[in-house]
Amino acid sequence: MKTLYIKFVVITIGMMLISFILAFILSNSYYQQKLKPINDQKNTQVALDIVHFVETHPEMELNEFLESLAATGYQFCLVDEAGNKTFFGEPFRDQTLPVSTEKKVLDGEVYHGILKFPQETFVTGFFANELKNTIGVPLNYNGNGFALLLRPDIKFLFNEMHVLFGWIVALTILISIVMVLINTRYLVKPISDLTKATKSLENSDFNVALDINRHDELGELSKSFLQMARRLEQTEDIRKEFISNISHDIQSPLSNIKGYTNLLENKSITTEEKNQYVSIINGEIERLSSLTKQLLLLASLDRNEDIVKKQPFDVGQQIKDLIRHYQWLIGEKGIMLGYHLPDIEIIADPSLVNTVWDNLLSNAIKYNKPNGTIEISAEKKGESVFVTFEDSGIGLKSSEIDRIFDRFYRADQSRTRLVEGTGLGLSIVKTIIDLHGGKITVTSNDKKGTKFIVELPIR
Ligand SMILES: Nc1ncnc2c1ncn2[C@@H]1O[C@H](COP(=O)(O)OP(=O)(O)OP(=O)(O)O)[C@@H](O)[C@H]1O
Ligand SMILES: [Mg+2]
Repeated sequence: MKTLYIKFVVITIGMMLISFILAFILSNSYYQQKLKPINDQKNTQVALDIVHFVETHPEMELNEFLESLAATGYQFCLVDEAGNKTFFGEPFRDQTLPVSTEKKVLDGEVYHGILKFPQETFVTGFFANELKNTIGVPLNYNGNGFALLLRPDIKFLFNEMHVLFGWIVALTILISIVMVLINTRYLVKPISDLTKATKSLENSDFNVALDINRHDELGELSKSFLQMARRLEQTEDIRKEFISNISHDIQSPLSNIKGYTNLLENKSITTEEKNQYVSIINGEIERLSSLTKQLLLLASLDRNEDIVKKQPFDVGQQIKDLIRHYQWLIGEKGIMLGYHLPDIEIIADPSLVNTVWDNLLSNAIKYNKPNGTIEISAEKKGESVFVTFEDSGIGLKSSEIDRIFDRFYRADQSRTRLVEGTGLGLSIVKTIIDLHGGKITVTSNDKKGTKFIVELPIR
């Protein structure tokens, strides 16, 4: 498998090599075009100077002179008229030289072997230790004609500094390659970690560990990924809890219905018992029906379709109608209900808003004490209407307050299990208020009472 790591390393080292080769080719062509003629000229001048010196000092021993000159960094070849060659200094690797060239030099021509040396891709012309790669000049010594061929000794040119530079270049390349290997690992690691994390999310394992301390785009990405994983985990938990709650809330009335229908099949029961069982079965069916209605409402609220159909209506009047609807239940429980509900017109969805008041009022009745009180009031403030439902009921603990808007949440099981309910009411209330751009707040004193304040925009 071609991993990102290998690709990155190959591309970076490839880029380094290509730039190295390009630089080499460019500097070589610079050598061929510019430096080679200069080099040739310089060495021709040196050769001519030597010839001039030898010819003006005939008393000097030529071989000894060339020997000592060679020690300063030159290679010489002295050809006499008979074609005999004497070499001074480092030996030439290739000593062949066309006889015609020797002849021409002996006849007085200057031989520009360095300039004419064949052009090649690499700077080999400069390094070629060949007799052809020399400067040849005619030399007269004590009445004898010679051809003097010379070239600088490369070994001499490459002194300690050049070796040092060579090492620096080699080390730089080596260190950069090692750095590329390490650095790439550092860059690619978070990406492989993210890939691993994605795979574990796929398998519903939300426990992913990522390095979020990097201060770059990858750190940001890891951070967002972790947040996403956390959200997914929450959603997954909520989904599981939701399904288990629904299953439970559907299963328990169904098994009650099944149990009582079995009892009804028994021929020996009295009419009184029969009526009692039928009324229990009816109650359970009622429970199932209200549960499905609430679930359907929640589902359509969740889908966020254009479910909110706004129109003007009077909230005060709406709540008063609702109170009339609950009058018998309030009377039955001996609850004292007082209200202050002036006419306030708002633009909202009347049916959804009615569901809000219905839930709040039914809660205030359900979770009240015998002979308790309920106070309802509405007030217009600025662009909003504030509606308050206050009861003197069983109240809520502060730990419960945080959860009452969760789906299926019912506070203090031992107290509320005696009261009918699914725990969906307030979550529906909250969703409807959110859809209207409003707000709901709760204050409660355990065992003393609860106050819900709903704020809705007037339009
Ligand atoms: N006025 C109140 N006083 C005390 N506790 C309350 C009050 N209103 C709500 N609660 C608590 O909050 C919980 C959630 O309320 P919610 O209306 O969502 O569900 P429910 O009344 O149990 O069922 P339903 O879906 O039938 O309304 C209740 O079970 C109850 O414990
Ligand atoms: Mg309720």
